[in-house]
Amino acid sequence: MARRKKVYEGKAKILYEGPEPGTYVQYFKDDATAFNAEKRETIEGKGVLNNRLSEHFMTGLQSIGVPTHFIRRLNMREQLIRQVEMIPLEVIVRNYAAGSMSKRLGLKEGEALPRPIVEFCLKDDALGDPLVTEEHIAAFGWATQQDMDDMIALALRVNDFLSGMMLGVGIRLIDFKIEIGRVWEDDYARLVVADEISPDSCRLWDVETDRKLDKDVFRHDLGDLADAYSEVARRFGLMPKQS
Ligand code: C5P
Repeated sequence: MARRKKVYEGKAKILYEGPEPGTYVQYFKDDATAFNAEKRETIEGKGVLNNRLSEHFMTGLQSIGVPTHFIRRLNMREQLIRQVEMIPLEVIVRNYAAGSMSKRLGLKEGEALPRPIVEFCLKDDALGDPLVTEEHIAAFGWATQQDMDDMIALALRVNDFLSGMMLGVGIRLIDFKIEIGRVWEDDYARLVVADEISPDSCRLWDVETDRKLDKDVFRHDLGDLADAYSEVARRFGLMPKQS
């Protein structure tokens, strides 16, 4: 393989300079981390599954007019994406209580929320990605009020679409996280869904059995992570046929 410049390496992905200006190659690693990388393991095949699943969800979103950074999948582990100016926030949408919200507010895991709830967290590994309010975001200039309104609207559109997509294959979308970037067109910034959408960044429960099909399997030692992700891929018809 030709040498190419690494632009950024995160916990689960690497970004390389892309073949054309304004593009990156996003490489999906097999590394799994949780609890701010205190727990880590290599899970063979995870990168391949997340590359394929993220492609499926991003192209689905594009088909209903939600802009994303995704251009095309290049191979088993890589996809071509647009360079965007990342907003340093994680946008979480929750339909059912789980994880940090259950802990913080004393809600039972799986309890339906009165309506989808959008949260912002600051992207900062050293601080453990703390929850922040719109006041913090505006005061520190991480995003404008208009950005925040647009991010909430975008996140709720993603939620509607993904929830339906999941339900169609017998999966309940409990919650998920997206990251959002700006694409500049003259002096106007368009927001696009960036990073990845995969079982690493969503909570996915089987509608019948409540089986967890997401990274909680790794976080809480609930079984084989690759099996869980393969099950999601299989339901979307993305696994090679068994002979
Ligand atoms: O941990 P918490 O309950 O706040 O996570 C909410 C959702 O956001 C989960 O689906 C989790 O996988 C995702 N998340 C993520 N990356 C983070 C924090 C949360 O993908 N750094």
